[in-house]
Amino acid sequence: MSKATITVLPGDGVGPEVTAQALKVLRAVEEKCGHSFTVHKRRVGLDALAAEGVAISESTFETCAQSDAILFGAVGSLPAGEDRSGGPRPEQALFRLRKEFGFFANLRPVRPFEALYGASSLKPEHLKGADMIFVRELSAGLYYGRLESVPGKPSEIRRTQQGTEAVDTLLYTEEEIERVVRAAFEIALDRERKVTSVDKANVLSSSVLWREVVERVAADHPTVTYEHMLVDACAMRLIRTPSDFDVIVTENLFGDILTDEASMLTGSIGMLPSASLGTRRTAGGMFGLYEPIHGSAPDIAGQDKANPVGAILSAALLLRHSLGLAQEASAVEEAVEAAIREGYRTPDLDEDGRTVVGTEEMGRRILDRLRQP
Ligand code: IPM
Ligand code: MG
Repeated sequence: MSKATITVLPGDGVGPEVTAQALKVLRAVEEKCGHSFTVHKRRVGLDALAAEGVAISESTFETCAQSDAILFGAVGSLPAGEDRSGGPRPEQALFRLRKEFGFFANLRPVRPFEALYGASSLKPEHLKGADMIFVRELSAGLYYGRLESVPGKPSEIRRTQQGTEAVDTLLYTEEEIERVVRAAFEIALDRERKVTSVDKANVLSSSVLWREVVERVAADHPTVTYEHMLVDACAMRLIRTPSDFDVIVTENLFGDILTDEASMLTGSIGMLPSASLGTRRTAGGMFGLYEPIHGSAPDIAGQDKANPVGAILSAALLLRHSLGLAQEASAVEEAVEAAIREGYRTPDLDEDGRTVVGTEEMGRRILDRLRQP
């Protein structure tokens, strides 16, 4: 039996709908396997800005800090016409959590289910054998100083005498590169032992340093094969021959963009989960933040249309990485695949001859499979 504390941050848009389904799955695992999960639900993003005046309050941050894991929904998308230029943005909550908890490695597994080949924009023959995991650097690079002006890392719009200009800073220390690249090589040891490091070394200094560090880390892992790939070439290879990839490690913004692209292999961005990890240990594994890679999707929020699979698979990653419950995690993943194999689909995966269901019912179908002995 395992005891754990989980903070749930549903957030904005479809966030509350999909995390509700993921939480039901965690409760079902708790009941079936005799574990004991204490759950704290808190506000984040626009929801917190409206109710508490900040994207994430100190007390919510503290609750997260005291937990074994954070289950996160989505934040963002200001209502149309609302101008908050210069004011606090909902995404700041996410950047703060990632930065202050040191979540530098963002794992995004991409494995298209065979039953969904028809829902992908790619021909099925290109999807065969595709099974990869992205290790996206998450706490440095172009995203920071988004938080606030970090000296030496400006991210701002400046009015000068010559006119208006804007700057963002892509800064990486050797240490920031090395820890995420090491994480990727270690993950590769448990997979096909192949790392693709993605950069733009023909243009960017940060990528030249990135390559140097990869060479050094690779030398410590003689059983792992590795390659360097330019990010533009990678974007192409991902949809030409996705089965070429095993572990892909890359800079923050490149990882953000490439994973939205890769999600199309699975049929929908609603399918992909993620785990953000650092170095802090819990009783069963690592402290982490778990979220689907999709956003708050305000256009479909509150309509029971969102795909809960990305959130549910994120809960599976939470079980595996933060609570050390690998069998339970696999059971959740198998339940998801079974429900899809049986033909249930949310509207984002609509195909002829399938049963289109809402967020709630999709969650219920997955729960049914999970509860089967
Ligand atoms: C993601 C999202 C976020 C990011 C947004 C919401 C700031 O796109 O997790 O991929 O860019 O990191
Ligand atoms: Mg993204």
